Amino acid sequence: MSQITVVGGKPLKGRVDLKGAKNLVTKAMVAALLGESTSVLKDVPRISDVDVVQRLLQLHGVQIDFAEDGTMSLDPSGVKSARMVDIDAHAGSSRIPILFCGPLLHQLGEAFIPGLGGCDIGGRPLDFHFDVLRSFGAVIEKLPNGTRLSAPNGMHGAKISLPYPSVGATEQVLLTAVRAEGKTELSGAAIEPEIMDLIAILQKMGAIISVDADRVIRIEGVSRMVGYQHRALFDRNEAASWAAAALATNGDIFVGGARQPEMTTFLNVFRKVGGAFQIEDDGIRFWHPGGTLNSVVIETDVHPGFMTDWQQPLVVALTQAQGMSIIHETVYENRFGFTDALNQMGAQIQLYRECLGGTSCRFGQRNYFHSAVISGPTKLKGADIRVPDLRGGFSHMVAALAAEGVSNVTNVQLISRGYENFLQKLTDLGAEFTYTE
Ligand code: EPU
Repeated sequence: MSQITVVGGKPLKGRVDLKGAKNLVTKAMVAALLGESTSVLKDVPRISDVDVVQRLLQLHGVQIDFAEDGTMSLDPSGVKSARMVDIDAHAGSSRIPILFCGPLLHQLGEAFIPGLGGCDIGGRPLDFHFDVLRSFGAVIEKLPNGTRLSAPNGMHGAKISLPYPSVGATEQVLLTAVRAEGKTELSGAAIEPEIMDLIAILQKMGAIISVDADRVIRIEGVSRMVGYQHRALFDRNEAASWAAAALATNGDIFVGGARQPEMTTFLNVFRKVGGAFQIEDDGIRFWHPGGTLNSVVIETDVHPGFMTDWQQPLVVALTQAQGMSIIHETVYENRFGFTDALNQMGAQIQLYRECLGGTSCRFGQRNYFHSAVISGPTKLKGADIRVPDLRGGFSHMVAALAAEGVSNVTNVQLISRGYENFLQKLTDLGAEFTYTE
């Protein structure tokens, strides 16, 4: 198990450059399955979620070339069924395989999906995905080691309403509806920027998709699609992570490739907390301007709300803010597990089952510790901690870098699921650490 020994207390200063968003790139790679010709995706990061999807696509006969500069070409002309045992080897490694269903059903008439992985931040059920696929005509058979799908009568457009604007389920609809026969109307859709970028890709491939007001997306199925050429949307989650790291460590970080429009909600909160930022043409500079940080009340939400993936690194900065901050997590029921380690380091974070912060959410009456109260400022001290999940792990690293003294952080390889060249970036920012594989 990999371990980092961090000497904390030094401000992170310098520049990091972003590539494409993890939560877009992996889906764009799956979309390439729908075309008849080669797709070219630019700014693909070297992260383990990309590796898993690459290997699964290759097992299905897609020829992939991944150049040093992050340009990936995907040729689906030889697409074929993969052996169940080979697919199964990837069980538990990612959540993206569930999105292979629609494209494989269109291309091959069948699909086998391994057991899914991803961060342990709640139950993460797949009911919306399977309901969506059934609406299009898929027949789903659960096996001990995965799920087999077929479409004996073809795939047909459908009228679908999601009970919650799920990102993954919206992508499932898009990737299936574009080649289903007839029209699909999706209400209750997620409209995250990564979804809009996926829609742009699908349109380049020949799809007909319109996004109406009030979370309604309409798709007219087409019988053939071609490859696309696309530069992936930047990773706004990574941008927010480094911004929070700058604030928590009293630092100053220029995040190359970050853009304002997709981050306005984050930037408002960053400013209210007391962080400074400057928008440039090629990125955003984030820094701690000195003085006291302010406590805030935040509710995580679907876009255009404050993203759930932004809260964990920001919590570390909030341990340094004056007063009581409240975070009400309304997207995942169990996303505060990472706060145990922060408390061990000296933070004062208390979790509550109640919906604190103003509105009630679907987790309110269900016994989940989904609200956090952070009292500050508190001094953080180095500790021995274990990375629990991707974003929680990043926040542990930020806490270790901000803390006085030495921290030993284990299970660090998990962070490479979503952050390219993480250790190199830390070095570039002047962090003091040693790494053992
Ligand atoms: N949900 C269901 N049933 C379903 C699907 C979702 O109840 O069939 C629930 C989930 O349990 C959750 C809520 O709906 O409570 C939202 O889940 P969503 O489907 O939107 O999440 P996702 O597609 O699994 C993606 C990102 C997450 C990000 C969320 C929210 C990817 C690979 N993952 O997950 O990113 O937090 O959207 O924006 O795109 C991360 O990057 O660390 C990460 C976890």
